[in-house]
Amino acid sequence: MCGIFGCVLRDGNAAPIIHSSLKRLEYRGYDSVGIATLSNKKIYIKKEQGKIDEVHQLLNLDNMPGNIGIGHTRWATHGAPLQINSHPHTDCKGDIAIVHNGIIENFLELKTELQNLGHTFVSKTDTEIMAHLIEETQKQNPHLNFEQAVLASLKRIEGSYAFAILSTNQPDKIICARNESPLVIGLNDNAIFCASDIPAFLSLTNKAVLINNGELVTLSTQGYEIKKINDASPITRNPITIEWTPEMAVKQGYPHFMIKEIHEQPQVLCNTLRIQDHYLDLLSTFLDRANEVFLVACGTSYHACLAASYMFSKLAFLPTYPVYASEFLEQHGKSVNIDSTILAVSQSGETADTIAAVACAQQRAATVLSLTNTIGSTLTRISRVYIGTQAGPEIGVAATKTFTSQLSVLAQIALKLSKKRGKISQDEIDSLEEKLQQLPIVVETIVTNQEEKIKTLAKKYSKTKLFFYLGRGISTATAFEGRLKLMEIAYIPSIAFPAGESKHGPISLIEDGLPVVFVCPKDDTHKTVIGNIMEMKARGAHILAIIEEGDEAIKSLADDYIEVPKGIPSVLTPIPYVVPLQLLAYYTAVEKGYNPDMPRNLAKSVTVR
Ligand code: M6R
Repeated sequence: MCGIFGCVLRDGNAAPIIHSSLKRLEYRGYDSVGIATLSNKKIYIKKEQGKIDEVHQLLNLDNMPGNIGIGHTRWATHGAPLQINSHPHTDCKGDIAIVHNGIIENFLELKTELQNLGHTFVSKTDTEIMAHLIEETQKQNPHLNFEQAVLASLKRIEGSYAFAILSTNQPDKIICARNESPLVIGLNDNAIFCASDIPAFLSLTNKAVLINNGELVTLSTQGYEIKKINDASPITRNPITIEWTPEMAVKQGYPHFMIKEIHEQPQVLCNTLRIQDHYLDLLSTFLDRANEVFLVACGTSYHACLAASYMFSKLAFLPTYPVYASEFLEQHGKSVNIDSTILAVSQSGETADTIAAVACAQQRAATVLSLTNTIGSTLTRISRVYIGTQAGPEIGVAATKTFTSQLSVLAQIALKLSKKRGKISQDEIDSLEEKLQQLPIVVETIVTNQEEKIKTLAKKYSKTKLFFYLGRGISTATAFEGRLKLMEIAYIPSIAFPAGESKHGPISLIEDGLPVVFVCPKDDTHKTVIGNIMEMKARGAHILAIIEEGDEAIKSLADDYIEVPKGIPSVLTPIPYVVPLQLLAYYTAVEKGYNPDMPRNLAKSVTVR
């Protein structure tokens, strides 16, 4: 997730406006920033890694000529957050400048093709290919103007994008295009703007035009023209008036970042499915060669590791050891060695316990692999291979979209490994891959269909003094994560156990009316879980079950239930089944009058041990 912005002014300098608008988009990304302006048929660019204020101090972003320009604030996906990878990117001659939010899936093929035609690339990004592609299209079709060349080039791009593009060929225009990544236009009497989000221009105008997938927009001092990308047919769309305050706009109208981030999960899951195959392949190759594999993390990321240990075992027959990073040194510090592999998982990539565990393993010559949401973080710098989880910045302290994105990437790695090891049939792999592709829609359906019901349940249970969360098999990880969410933001003491363990002690706490949340997908554990539900009911527990749609057996036993669409393979269940638990925690916190974005005593990134 990155932020893009562009503006064409009737008079005045564009750069200061771009700079202050990027500042308002900083919640979309903040590892590098860049601006391109156009004046007297020449493009000027300033860009650098670092936060906007730091880069402004260094380069003075306001001091650039021209009434037209584009800008970008980056959250790295392809290529580390370095100056060279910062946007805007240009073609070979520096006549085209481009900013982009999204992921171009076929960039490697296009890059090779363009390199063979003599184009020189300076960055590791997917974005840069678009500048060269437009250059090449114009070279081969000199009769095309800038807009026509962009249209032709877009037809060759696969993936998600919101582009804003400048060219000396039509120096009074910005061309924008959208597929899956957000894009809005704003306008007032003196200017026209394009941006990833409304907050970027809300202090300048409340008149906005929403751009849809598959549309191209040309901005100039004359206004805006929208066309369909597939046939260049014109589209008429009038501006709407935005009633949001700037604060509401940053949260896109949601009252808190956490609920916005829960709702973002379908899009984030789509992004995770675009991760380049060769990264997944590389990481699974290292895992395949390992003698022993430790999955190391803290908090929510640890729960992703716990779920992953079931995925690796069931799909690739690879035993792995999930370990709390804070325990790694004591538990394995002496035995970890050159034949060990550590897969560290961390949203921030900065968690002190995780970094310490990795450093210890590294000192003892183990191989370090990682998964993080923050490219450029300490973890990426000390890992042999890392994969970015593509969730974009998460502002709510409670991890939500970063958890489901970690799970999606881990599932893809497990599937790759499974293919390599030939442990399950190709049919089964194909079916799992198909189901994985459907998860964004499944999660969307859960949020759409269950949110109101969960709000009511949160009201009903908000006065409860203690909660139990139980699950069997991979659902143990889901139960652990649901418990953590409720505890950390609604401050309700909660206990989570594998359901089978509950009768070895915790069951003594059960008394009349105590709520027990059961995570019960219809997998191999289903029958046994029914037995565990009976045990709890017999002692007066109140059962709240997360079930597969139409699971009449559990419906008849539960006091309340939340349904998840049918047909999710067991190893993928944590992704959709955790969503109702995130919503339950969120609405319980709100019901109790707490701010879920800033739970007491917690920090987003825990950098002390
Ligand atoms: O950035 P990391 O994933 O390494 O963070 C690990 C934990 O601190 C984090 O998951 C924490 O438990 C969250 N607040 C959970 O919502």
